[in-house]
Parts: sequence; structure tokens; C-alpha cells
Amino acid sequence: MKKVVLAYSGGLDTSVAVAWLREQYDAEVVTLTVDLGGGVLKEDVDRRAISAGASRAYVVDGRDRFVRDFCWPHVQAGALYQGVYPLATAMARPMIAQLLVEVAHKENADAVAHGCTGKGNDQVRFDIATHALDPSLAVIAPMRVGMGLSREQEIEYAKARNIEITITKDSIYSIDVNLWGRSIEAGILEDPWTAPRADVYRWTVDPDKAPAPVEIVIGFEGGVPVSLDGDRTDPVTLVEHLHDLAGAHGVGRVDHVEDRLVGIKSREIYEAPAATVIHRAHRALEGLTLSKDTLRFNRIVADELAQLTYDGLWFSALHRDLRGYAASSQRVVSGDVRVRLDHGNAIVTGRRSPLSLYDKALATYEADDAFDHAAAVGFIEIFGLPLRTEAARHGAVGRHHGAAWTWTEPLLDELPTKVYDAPSAAVK
Ligand code: ARG
Repeated sequence: MKKVVLAYSGGLDTSVAVAWLREQYDAEVVTLTVDLGGGVLKEDVDRRAISAGASRAYVVDGRDRFVRDFCWPHVQAGALYQGVYPLATAMARPMIAQLLVEVAHKENADAVAHGCTGKGNDQVRFDIATHALDPSLAVIAPMRVGMGLSREQEIEYAKARNIEITITKDSIYSIDVNLWGRSIEAGILEDPWTAPRADVYRWTVDPDKAPAPVEIVIGFEGGVPVSLDGDRTDPVTLVEHLHDLAGAHGVGRVDHVEDRLVGIKSREIYEAPAATVIHRAHRALEGLTLSKDTLRFNRIVADELAQLTYDGLWFSALHRDLRGYAASSQRVVSGDVRVRLDHGNAIVTGRRSPLSLYDKALATYEADDAFDHAAAVGFIEIFGLPLRTEAARHGAVGRHHGAAWTWTEPLLDELPTKVYDAPSAAVK
């Protein structure tokens, strides 16, 4: 091993990993830190990397591309893992893996490394994304191959080598953060019956303590948000503004027992204020602008894409093609959605679009109704034909492959029923 590119956060684990990789593999270590927002980039991360023994430290601002290339396609698709998790951590991995591979090529490195443990999803995502892009690169996960030091041992290890570390209070949770979401697990959360303590949350206020509700308007073009209350901004700014607003109203908490890729169920808490509001608003605008068949099919695509992203299959052909479908289906998903932020809830209270499929003249119950009521009779005749046929043929048989088989359980004779007769004089 000559040179390794390590995904580096500047925290204790990855700082120790720099030294450990050098000693274990006798290799030069180059670090890569990718800023994906969320306020977790340590500003002196390059200095820390060098102090830990890296020969070179790359620090990349990946926020804009992360939102455009990773978050937005998931908004367009409406992709939430198991219907609730906005995939912040899962989406970040392929982007970081791609940068690891690009730095490895630039540096002529023979391996990349990451700080994941052997129990989570992230190791799988890093490993398979890297090998999809370059199967010749080795992937080293120090935590998985012997660096398993306790926190105290890591601190000793770092001190003995004069590695600069800030000893923060040991977090009782395992946390991953980027601008799309905060993922929190472990500690007391491991009991799925235990309510999350207040200290789990950093981005969202307790909904009980939220200020009076506000209404905001999010503008969409082609299925992605472009403005907030009429102000057009770049994607990162838009997400950050929404983050502050929604978080201040307690919106975006998710408490989820999820199915990990490695086969175990795991209790996760997420905070994703901006993602929650954007997904909800987007869905409302789709309801106005897409046909019912497209809406139904999009749910399938959403679930498939979420699963592939969760499973680390970003660089698969299917992922790419589903993103392509999602983007294409969003041609007409442009317009405004009004959302009320109300004590932890994001409630859609209005939507409008120049491409709306909603037709007031058809929907109205007022006098100017343009819907042809008489035509409903013929429609129902044809639409109900298969059901009438089935009921007539099979309902009458009452037996199926020899087994007794009732079409319905009786209701009227079984239910408490009162019968009132009119006075006999009134009966003609
Ligand atoms: N369960 C989520 C996922 O697999 C988040 C994991 C985040 N990691 C953490 N250390 N909390 O995508």
C-alpha cells in the first residue's frame, strides 16, 4: 500500500484513523473532507488532518451539488425510505465515495478508507459505490479491521502521537449530519418504547414551545423548489431558510424503527425540517398537476428509488433510469404551495399552478356545473359490467372447488336494528 485517501471529519475516530492507517499499512494518508452543510464542518479541519499525520488535506464544499444532484431527484421522485426517512445520510455516501475515487485518481492512491463500523448501512454504501466507480481501488474500514479502540484508548493513542483533538463530552448518541437531515441513533434510543429525550433534538424546537403558526409559500419549477415567499434563491440558501423556519416551529421530527440493509431493525430519530416541508408541498403540487395514473405509478417509483438509495445502489443503472423517469414526470410540476407551520405540523392549505389539471367548472356543485350528469349513467353501466358479471356467475355458485363459500356474511339479521311503523291510519 502506497497511498490511502481517507474520508475525514476531523473528529476523534477519523483523526486516530489517519495515524493508524500510516502505521498499519506504512502508507501515505491523504484526507478528504466534504462539507455537505448542517453546520458540522470543523473550520480547522485541514490543520487537524495534517496534525494527525496526513500529507495533504482536501476540503471540498459539496453543498450545492449535494442539493441539486442528490436531494432534488429524491424530491422529484417523492422518495422517502419506508415512507418516512428523507435519506439524508444515505444520499451523502455515494457523493463522498465519488469524491474519494476522484481524489484517489488525482493522487495516484491505491486505496480509499472510511470510518464506518461493521454493523451499519454506511460501510456497504461506501464500499459498493467505490467499487462501482473503480473496482481496482481497495477499500479499508479501520473500524472493521482491527482499529476497534475504546474512546479512552483513542484519546491515549492520539495523545501519544501529539494529534490535535478536542475532547468533547462523550455523546451518548451516534449522530450523522448534513443540510438535508440529522440522523440520531443508539444510547437510550435502542429501546423502541423509550421516548426520545429533549437532548436528542438540535434542529427542531419542542412543538409545545413553538411560536404562533405561520404560513409560507414555496414555489416549484419542474418538481423542485425555487422560491420561498416569492424570493428566488439558490438551492442551498432555500434549504437553509426553510430549515430555520420549519425547525423553529418544531416541524421535521421522525421517530422510526427502520430495516437496515444488514438485516437488523434499528430505532432512528431524524430531524429534517426542510426536507419534511419540501416533500409535503411537492406531493400536494403533484396532486394538482399530474394524472391519477401518473400519481399512482410515481408511488412505485418513489419506493423503488428510496430502497435503492438506502441500499447504496446509487451508481446502478436502475437508479439512474428511475431518476430519469422521475425528472421527466416532473415537467409540469410547477406552481406554488402554501404550507402552515403549526406546532410540529406542516399542513398544506393551498396550491396553484398554471399547469393545473383541476377544473373548477367540472368540480363545482354550483349552478354553473359543466359536468354531464346524464352521461354518468352510461359510464356506470360499462364500468360496473365486470363486477356484475362476476357477482352473477360466482356469487350464485356459492361453492368454490368443493368448499363451502359464502359471498357475504349477513348484516341486517346480525345488527341491532329498530323498525318503526307509521300509525295504521296513515297507511293507505
Ligand atoms: N439509519 C440511517 C441510514 O442508514 C442513518 C445512519 C446514520 N448514522 C449514524 N451514525 N447515526 O441511512
